[in-house]
Amino acid sequence: MPPRSLRLSLILCLLTFLALPGARCQTSTESAGFHGLPVRSNLVSPAVEKKIDALLKEMTVEEKVGQLVQYSVGAPTGPETGPGGYEEMVQKGQVGSLYNLRGVQDANFYQRVAMEKSRLRIPLINGLDVIHGYRTEFPVPLALASTWDPQIVEKAARIAAQEASAAGVRWTFSPMVDIARDARWGRMMEGAGEDPYLGSAIARAYVRGYQGANLSAPDSIAACVKHFVGYGAAEAGRDYNTTEISEHTLREVYLPPFYAALDEGSASLMSAFNTLNGVPTSANPFTLTQILRKEWRFPGVVDSDWTSIAELQAHGIANDGETAAWRAFTAGVDMDMESNLYHEHLVNLVKKGKVSEAQIDDAVRHVLRVKFALGLFEHPYTDESRENRGPLTKGNLDVAREAAERSFVLLRNEPQGSARILPLSDQFRTVALIGPLADDPQEMLGAWGAHGQAADVVTLRTALTQRLGAERVKYAKGADFRTATDEQINAAVEAARSADGAILALGEEAGSMTGEAGSRAHLDLPGRQEDLLEKVTATGKPVVVVLFSGRPLTLKWAFTHVPGVLEAWFPGVQAGPALVRTLYGDSVPSGRLVVSWPDSIGQIPDYYNSLNTGRPAGNVDLTRPGTTIQEKYVSRYVDEPNAPQFPFGYGLSYTQFQYSAPQLSTTKLNAQELCTALRDRAADGKTVVTVTANVTNSGKVAAEEVVQLYVGSRGTSVEEPVRALKAFQHVLLAPGETKRVTFALTPEAFALWDINNDRTVEPSQARIWVSPDSRSGQPVELEITE
Ligand code: BGC
Repeated sequence: MPPRSLRLSLILCLLTFLALPGARCQTSTESAGFHGLPVRSNLVSPAVEKKIDALLKEMTVEEKVGQLVQYSVGAPTGPETGPGGYEEMVQKGQVGSLYNLRGVQDANFYQRVAMEKSRLRIPLINGLDVIHGYRTEFPVPLALASTWDPQIVEKAARIAAQEASAAGVRWTFSPMVDIARDARWGRMMEGAGEDPYLGSAIARAYVRGYQGANLSAPDSIAACVKHFVGYGAAEAGRDYNTTEISEHTLREVYLPPFYAALDEGSASLMSAFNTLNGVPTSANPFTLTQILRKEWRFPGVVDSDWTSIAELQAHGIANDGETAAWRAFTAGVDMDMESNLYHEHLVNLVKKGKVSEAQIDDAVRHVLRVKFALGLFEHPYTDESRENRGPLTKGNLDVAREAAERSFVLLRNEPQGSARILPLSDQFRTVALIGPLADDPQEMLGAWGAHGQAADVVTLRTALTQRLGAERVKYAKGADFRTATDEQINAAVEAARSADGAILALGEEAGSMTGEAGSRAHLDLPGRQEDLLEKVTATGKPVVVVLFSGRPLTLKWAFTHVPGVLEAWFPGVQAGPALVRTLYGDSVPSGRLVVSWPDSIGQIPDYYNSLNTGRPAGNVDLTRPGTTIQEKYVSRYVDEPNAPQFPFGYGLSYTQFQYSAPQLSTTKLNAQELCTALRDRAADGKTVVTVTANVTNSGKVAAEEVVQLYVGSRGTSVEEPVRALKAFQHVLLAPGETKRVTFALTPEAFALWDINNDRTVEPSQARIWVSPDSRSGQPVELEITE
């Protein structure tokens, strides 16, 4: 028997161990209360906390509230609501942040008021929606994600940060990481698609790019991950609409990219417009306090979305502004963007005792941490000579072109004579270039173009003319977005007849049909573009469609009748050169879909990582005549196959790739061991199994493949997706070359949110695919033992 003191300390040790969140690792259905490790952050240090304490002691309640108030000055990005008179308000210490300022002089002007005329000289933090570039516009975010290349996303975000910070912007409201499963929703174009794993990798890349190695460097800007949370699940794809998401799905699908961005160090987060399970997300204590502050221990700022606090009244959970302010603030929103309600009511709420000064101090602390981290107290002003030095350098434009090329997804490439239609051959001596997007520079910038300028854009027409010479390009617009006259269409048909082939640049209008408030109930080509396409195709000339859109479009006819379709999204300033290089084979498409491409609107919401149901339809196409009774009673449509037009992960190349069956380093893992490692920061990234497969380029050109690894688990306490992306790799292969691709999987690949919504690994039968997309390939089995 050990001595009494030793016995006591052993018992104490055991008790402490049991009390630590997540220290016990249970794989049974009994709750272990583990919701993941806290996020990592550099915002907190003893020295900074001391400075904040000192400042808080000096501040009046009015000045504290001022730090929580934010207004748009300049071109508005939402309904205009602010009171105006900001110079005076800044001077009185009533404003903590301005955004949408027009440039460095504006930024320095207001900063000077804060630093020279306000009592405590607390700097402002200037924000802007720098979403896919500041002046050098890159492809829209959905396109950037379609590169499946976090490195190019990081590079684009770094350039955006350099250019924006030169204009006095130190805070961007990006990345938007909302999972989107509904192509009707216009803001699908602002995110990274439908997958939480890929979405997390891309989210981290943006944060690294914006914030750089050191947030206090003058060319770093604070990231703001948004919109917390579930905004992308808007019912019927209608922007701002209600969402209902179970806690399980929230944790498994919608929260991971937020966690990833914050764990990468994102200094701030934006709440959203939508109601989530009956509680608006800008006043939702479960997401904003329980998950964000208690589980994740996020120490940075929570900003509201534009007037989302005032909108609590329209939601019906506040009958007046004071209640709206109270609800949002006590749920965990630190800063009021544009509602003007914190300014009007917070001081009073403190006086009435409905909000404590300690609560105000906490919120102010979150704001000040970010201001200190950005070095704004030491260096509040921006060197005005920087503003015009950075943008549109050759280096930046090269990255914009490369990003665009890597974002294009080749959807269809059928044989035309002895070869496939793309890349275009010299038989295309003369080309008819047709369509509303062939020569519209403004459209190439896409929605949320920040300070991008049409004059900076090289269009497809310009680039094609540069390559072929004016005499070989026969341009006819053919149609506007919403209308076309018969004369326009006829002229385009004539142009096609007189050329060797036609390129049609078709699609959506970025500004009005994509982005915020850009939901669509119809996903076909707007106006008479489809008519134009059919008539040009009827000439019998080879036709390629270059599709510009912020989402998948349901183009059944094109996908059956047009030999070549390249999805270009909205490619940014280098649209033309990137497209021409791709169409002519100087660059081989390697972009892959980050959203399932529906065959028809009726399939929406359509996503690959769905559950199996009790009556899965498998691959049976029930629209075929002769459906058997066994085939009838399954989860399916009577008038449409279940399969999407193109699955998540899909994209063609100018070559073909062959995959061998995957091999595992072990076919058995232990649930307890995986679960323990999952909960231990030190074991983060520990490899538990390697998966290898050979990938061969069996075609004639060197090309890059995105090799994707999926896992599906059966026998778990909750139903898991049929398969879910857990890793991917790019591999560059010469013609005929085979490379062995190795994936090192960590416990995360097998982790799930169990029946109690705890993060764990359960005994199960796992299946692992290594494949070119989310529907193909044969899995290998791996057992996760008890
Ligand atoms: C959008 C946000 C944006 C904010 C500021 C809102 O309307 O939803 O994404 O950051 O405006 O411009």
